[in-house]
Amino acid sequence: MNDLELYREQLALCDDKIIDALMERYAIVEQIMAYKEEYGMAILQPAQEAKQERRWKERMNSHRHQDEIYNVFQRIVRNSKRIQARKLFSYNIVLIGFMGSGKTTISDYLSTTLAMNIVEMDQVIAEREEMSIPDIFSTYGEDYFRDKETKLLMELQKSRDTIISCGGGVVLREENVQEMKKNGRVVLLTASPQTVYDRVKDNNDRPILAQNKNVEFIADLMEKRREKYEAAADVVVQTDGKSVLEICEELIKKLLEMDES
Ligand code: S3P
Repeated sequence: MNDLELYREQLALCDDKIIDALMERYAIVEQIMAYKEEYGMAILQPAQEAKQERRWKERMNSHRHQDEIYNVFQRIVRNSKRIQARKLFSYNIVLIGFMGSGKTTISDYLSTTLAMNIVEMDQVIAEREEMSIPDIFSTYGEDYFRDKETKLLMELQKSRDTIISCGGGVVLREENVQEMKKNGRVVLLTASPQTVYDRVKDNNDRPILAQNKNVEFIADLMEKRREKYEAAADVVVQTDGKSVLEICEELIKKLLEMDES
């Protein structure tokens, strides 16, 4: 056997070790999941992730391939999260709620920490139309925009492992709610009119609030839509005064409780 053949043989043995280690690692991930579920522990633990990262770096000790190895570890952890998310949720998570209730922030955080896909409906519609939401409203009117929302929701029936962040008015059409529920659980995020006002006051992307940025208008519209939001929701998470992590933990807990019952 020449040297090249020998190296290739060594490489193949190395790959075997990696495969065995990964199979062992992902089995442990499943055990951790089961443990957290059994003892009702928090699923998301960012502090633990940071600790893990520090440990890898120490272990690699500035090795010349540190960056390459680090890159692989990031993929390994992302896949662990996917395994976790698929085990937890066999459906899409659909976030609804009034403007400024936190849908975008929460869906971003959840999709990162659970390695799930994300669809921000307003963003997709604006990209497709090559226009901002306020421009769509002023050029074609609200009904046109609402039709785009319905069409997109229907298309999303095909998606899996996805967090869908809806525009605040999606629940206005009953058919939209039916679409959401076909393969998703609907989570309603709520916030007080004052909190909504504080979150949206410096933003000009919402045509409905353009001339109406005040707490009274927000409270009034929220009240008008309240019944529809509540009727659509499988679970409700109130967001005032809570951190993003707290909101996400509560959301996950409530979905899991719902699945159990
Ligand atoms: C709307 C909410 C907006 C956007 C559009 C209309 C509404 O989404 O879809 O401006 O009718 O409540 P956000 O709730 O994400 O701001």
